[in-house]
Amino acid sequence: MSAMPNPTAPADRGGLSADYLRALPKAEVHCHLEGCVPPRTAVRLAERHGVALPAGARDGGDRYRFRDFDEGLKIYLAVCRSMQTAEDFEAVTYESLVTAAEGGLRYREMAFNPQNHPELTYDEMVGGILAGARAAREETGVISRIVVAINRQFGGEAALNLVREVLAHPHPEVVAIGLDGDEKAGRPAEFVAAYDLARAAGLKLTAHAGEHGDPTEMVECLDLLGVDRIDHGYAALLDSALLARTAASRIPYSACWFIDYPELEVEGRRRDVAAMAAAGLNLCLNSDDPALIGPELHEDFIDAAAQLGWTVADAEQYALAGLDASFADDTTVEHLRAEFTAELERLRPTAYGANHQ
Ligand code: HPA
Ligand code: ZN
Repeated sequence: MSAMPNPTAPADRGGLSADYLRALPKAEVHCHLEGCVPPRTAVRLAERHGVALPAGARDGGDRYRFRDFDEGLKIYLAVCRSMQTAEDFEAVTYESLVTAAEGGLRYREMAFNPQNHPELTYDEMVGGILAGARAAREETGVISRIVVAINRQFGGEAALNLVREVLAHPHPEVVAIGLDGDEKAGRPAEFVAAYDLARAAGLKLTAHAGEHGDPTEMVECLDLLGVDRIDHGYAALLDSALLARTAASRIPYSACWFIDYPELEVEGRRRDVAAMAAAGLNLCLNSDDPALIGPELHEDFIDAAAQLGWTVADAEQYALAGLDASFADDTTVEHLRAEFTAELERLRPTAYGANHQ
């Protein structure tokens, strides 16, 4: 007969304290600014600007209600349409960063979709985001950078025009171009010219692929767009050559755990993330749309730690993984890495709770 395992023994897997996981310094690189707007804020903005929100954005209390990804995306677009001034961007950015900092977030790359806000110029939007980010940094220390996301639905030519606009208004905090929206709306190949132009100007490149689409989408992102990171990428599990290639190249995958997404087959997502980690991919965890889909990143950490039986070493590895995937300049990343390392060491004795012997 074997001895009963002690689930709180440091040598064992699992049992990490929620307080510890919340306090862990965290960095994420895959988070949509407009997916950070809580329903109460969306309703306030929509009323101010006379925008009609879908029922699922109005009557779900603290949560948005939607049955599937497509319906969620419709709500997301309505929330985008409710942000019509630089001050709206400032308020949303500030609120989202301060909220996340309460759960240990120290660095975030925020994507936003300029094409979903036709009332504003690119510079008005970035100006608002930067003002909100500055205020959040002064209050909490959280550092952020911006990813300009191309909405696939608008096609390749509009994407090229967007990149031209980005290059005409350079901001050091804008570090990358991304691609999001409905993965069924257009192949990555449509966006080659936009990505080529962004790369030539020194911007980093990322793209959503392999969340709803198949692995050929991901191969296009790698071979035709030349991405430096893959957002989601679960479909790699269906293609052993792609899996081996990306494990060897160490290209970062920004995965999302989504404990609060009842419409998604959550168990399947958890299995995928666990399988990707087991396959040796360079994986970090991200909240994606913390207000729309939920939850905040620290809640993902708490759930993933319990479900996957994280050790302290696992928790520390995931805390640092977002920095490895970051597109911030080397000085900023190294500064954050030093801070994280010191903080992880300081927190280590608390990993199993204050009363643990
Ligand atoms: N996936 C794709 N596009 C998006 C998302 C998402 O979760 N959120 C906002 N745009
Ligand atoms: Zn996303």
